[in-house]
Amino acid sequence: MPDKITLSVIKADIGGYVGHSSSHPQILKKAEERLDKARHKKLLVDFYVTHCGDDLELIMTHRKGTEDQEVHELAWNTFVQCTEEAKKLKLYGAGQDLLKDAFSGNVKGMGPGIAEMEFVERKSEPIIIFMADKTSPGAWSMPVFRMFADPFNTAGLIIDTNMHGGFVFEVMDIKENKTIRLSCPEEMYDLLAFIGSINRFMIKAVYRKSDGEIGAAASTDRLSLIAGKYVGKDDPVLIVRCQSGLPAVGEVLEPFAFPHLVEGFMRGSHHGPIMPVSFDQSTPSRFDGPPRVIAAGFQLADGRLIGPRDMFDDPGFDLARQKANEIADYIRHHGPFEPHRLPMDEMEYTTMPDIMKKMEDRFQKLD
Ligand code: F6R
Ligand code: MG
Ligand code: MG
Repeated sequence: MPDKITLSVIKADIGGYVGHSSSHPQILKKAEERLDKARHKKLLVDFYVTHCGDDLELIMTHRKGTEDQEVHELAWNTFVQCTEEAKKLKLYGAGQDLLKDAFSGNVKGMGPGIAEMEFVERKSEPIIIFMADKTSPGAWSMPVFRMFADPFNTAGLIIDTNMHGGFVFEVMDIKENKTIRLSCPEEMYDLLAFIGSINRFMIKAVYRKSDGEIGAAASTDRLSLIAGKYVGKDDPVLIVRCQSGLPAVGEVLEPFAFPHLVEGFMRGSHHGPIMPVSFDQSTPSRFDGPPRVIAAGFQLADGRLIGPRDMFDDPGFDLARQKANEIADYIRHHGPFEPHRLPMDEMEYTTMPDIMKKMEDRFQKLD
């Protein structure tokens, strides 16, 4: 049995520069130093540190499997040390995603977002890691559906024998904390009935039906539910394996040519278009947005991360960026009105309870 490799992407906002718009280079340097030590000690095979907006992203390969205590503790301690650095620079919201004081075995439910998968590396293993800022994991549902189930996006579903059988989607109900597996194409309408509700049902993973091979894994953490109160948007990450019986690189990127509306934007309380951008444009500054997504492409070579290639740094996505700006402009004109502002119970910030209380006596009951 060949050795399996694990790819873990663990992220947290541990301080923004300036405001919530980006990350400071010193923070990235600190994280690199910490992970480099772990690579020397052979805990990690390889790593890459980056940021998307104000989120620090740790991309790590190792042979320990998913939910490994040592790897999760490494990520947690890295975030803690980077928070100390962020405090020295008085970066904004230092440590905002670290919701617990001490590590207890697994970073799940402690604030950071996690996407992980374990697999046997193929003869060639192209991978794309998507990272988003100013939105939530529901943002992945439409593009992931398109990659793995929509023949108008993914030609391979029709014309490649290796994927013609379809894919199985593992969907999480984040309100009830349970999962369900739905098989496409047969159960496509049931799947869409769930994942169309982007704030409740989220795609957690996708598997090839013919052999169970994993194709995608997403972070499905909801900071707001974890903390029981607003502590920042749960900016998500997504890993997708490509080619040879899985969607091709171009089929995986294609859904982002349409800048669909997602939840997030200013104060995590608005709808806005998600804009695919190059690494250096992942700095949401207009109305704390529009929401951004970057795509880091890697070839794995015995666990080594060869890359990244900046996949959205391509004129092929210029139109999507322009369209996103036009949509942002249009929806911004709605100001405090829905559907720009989220429905009342989806907003991360609200003054409503206070206003209701203050105005209670002034409401006049109609017969
Ligand atoms: C959204 C986000 C920002 C902040 C906003 C207000 O996910 O992080 O839009 O919500 O800048 O931030 P505070 O309340 O920290 O002043
Ligand atoms: Mg922030
Ligand atoms: Mg963020």
